[in-house]
This record gives sequence, C-alpha cells and structure tokens, in this order.
Amino acid sequence: MTVRIIGAPTDYGQDRRGVDMGPSAIRYAGLSDALSSAGVDVADAGDLRVPRAEERDPNSRQPSEGNAKFLQEIEEVTTALADGVADSVAAGETPLVLGGDHSVAIGSLRGSARDAEIGAVWFDAHGDYNTPTTSPSGNVHGMPLAAALGYAEWDSVDWANATGLREENVAYVGLRALDDSERAAIRDSEMTAYTMSDIDERGITDVVEAALSVAGDGVDGVHASLDMDWLDPTIAPGVGTPVRGGVTYREAHHAMELLAESDALRSMEVVEVNPVLDESNETASLAAELTSSAFGKRIL
Ligand code: ARG
Ligand code: MN
Ligand code: MN
Ligand code: MN
Repeated sequence: MTVRIIGAPTDYGQDRRGVDMGPSAIRYAGLSDALSSAGVDVADAGDLRVPRAEERDPNSRQPSEGNAKFLQEIEEVTTALADGVADSVAAGETPLVLGGDHSVAIGSLRGSARDAEIGAVWFDAHGDYNTPTTSPSGNVHGMPLAAALGYAEWDSVDWANATGLREENVAYVGLRALDDSERAAIRDSEMTAYTMSDIDERGITDVVEAALSVAGDGVDGVHASLDMDWLDPTIAPGVGTPVRGGVTYREAHHAMELLAESDALRSMEVVEVNPVLDESNETASLAAELTSSAFGKRIL
C-alpha cells in the first residue's frame, strides 16, 4: 500500500492562528518514519499553496443568508485538495490529508467520492454539522459535514451534492460538544451518532466496529476524518477548540487499529493540530502515531 501525504495548511475555518502549521508539525514529529514502520510506502506530495489569511478579506464572498468566513478561500483550497485526493485514489494509493482546520474535509470528501460511493467515520468532539445560518461562529470548520452532504445555501460555491455522500453512511464517534441547533439537526438526520456516553457504556471496540459497518454499508470505501480534539485535551492540548472528556490514548490507538483491520479505508485526514498551542508538539506526535496505527502498525 502506498500512502500519499497531502498537506493542506489552512486556518481559514476557525479563529485561532497556528493551525496552518499543522502539516509541518506532524511531519516534524516523524510522520514519514511512523508510516514506514507500519509497513506502507510513503509518497509525500508536499503542501498545497495557501495564501495567508491576513492577505485576504474574510467577507469577500458570503452566502446570501448567514455567515461563513473565508468562503472564497475555502472553496479555492478545497477544490485543489479534492483534485489531489482524487488523483491519489485513481493512482491506487491511499491519500492522507494533513490539516489545517476541519474545513479541509470538504475537499477530502469531494476528492475521495469523485468516482465512487463513500461513507465517512467522523472522529470528533464536535458535530461539524452547522450551516451558515445555524453557525454561532461563522467558522467553516464547524460546517464541513453539512457542506459535504449538500446542505446549506452556499450560492456560488458548488457544494450542493458535491460528494453524493449519504447520511446513512455517516457515523460519528465520540461526540460531546454540540450547538443546540446542531443537536436537533443530527437527531433528525439519518446519520448515526455515537457519543462519549456510548463509548463509556459499550466500549471503544463495539462502537468503532458499529461505526465502520454503518459507514461501509454498500459503498466502495470509507473516509476517516480524525479531528485531534476527539482526544482528551490532557493528551492532545494543541487544538483550537478543546473539550474535556475525550477518548484516551489507548482507546484512540485501538480505534485506529480497528480501522486498519476493516480494510475499508479509502482516504483519511488528520486535522486541527495547532502547534502554537502546544509547547512540546505532543499533539502532532500523537497524530503521527495514530495514523501509523490506522495504516497497520502493530506491536507484534
Ligand atoms: N460548533 C462550533 C462551531 O460551529 C465549534 C466547531 C468546532 N469544529 C472543529 N472542527 N473543531 O463554531
Ligand atoms: Mn460519488
Ligand atoms: Mn472538533
Ligand atoms: Mn471537527
């Protein structure tokens, strides 16, 4: 198996500077060696070119209703990212996208779904299911799932039904921080939502296996979206929107091992690593370790 690393150094989707350094931080933490030790071949495609946020006007394009900051810039970078991901899949590789904030998932999902039906497992504290009208922040990192599912009136952005992703093939793992409008929308949706309470009750093995079977049901492959704020902030402090009560080191590793065993992984991303908020780069190190488990690293 060849894993193609694609860096998407964006911070357009949220308010805290520094998450654009995520790809560098994860590489510096030893990603390439960690993946090699998992037994995969690694091809690093480098980073997408992303203009600095200061050079841009966050409101140069806005939806007709609601608020979505840096919409123009996010459309540009996710369009380029979708091409990179689709090329990688077409070449028989497994793309690994390094964020950047979670808005990059719009590009990963579009690329992965270009010539196939896909499902998604969303490892995250958050639902990322807001739209420009429900978002309390206007931050697009809280909206990528809604965008990928074709909801929201984005106007000139052609995200409506951009992926063909079906709610029935989306499973959350580890939710614990939802906005009120998001909570109602997730309940009304056909998505499957496993919260931290489900992990407490059923254990990580049962929950991840169930999530993988939901995501993989009747599709060609699964996209795994790993937001590092899924983990407890005591072990992953370098994230912009930390939430107490996340998964442990061991739960996270085991979840990634189950992902590798499922053989369904078509594409993956690891997002929201912000080394500016992390004195010893431990969040990036953990991101590198977890991806190596997801690509098959084993103790024995
Ligand atoms: N729900 C909040 C919002 O929409 C926070 C989203 C956090 N998302 C993330 N990918 N970290 O603004
Ligand atoms: Mn499709
Ligand atoms: Mn999150
Ligand atoms: Mn997220």
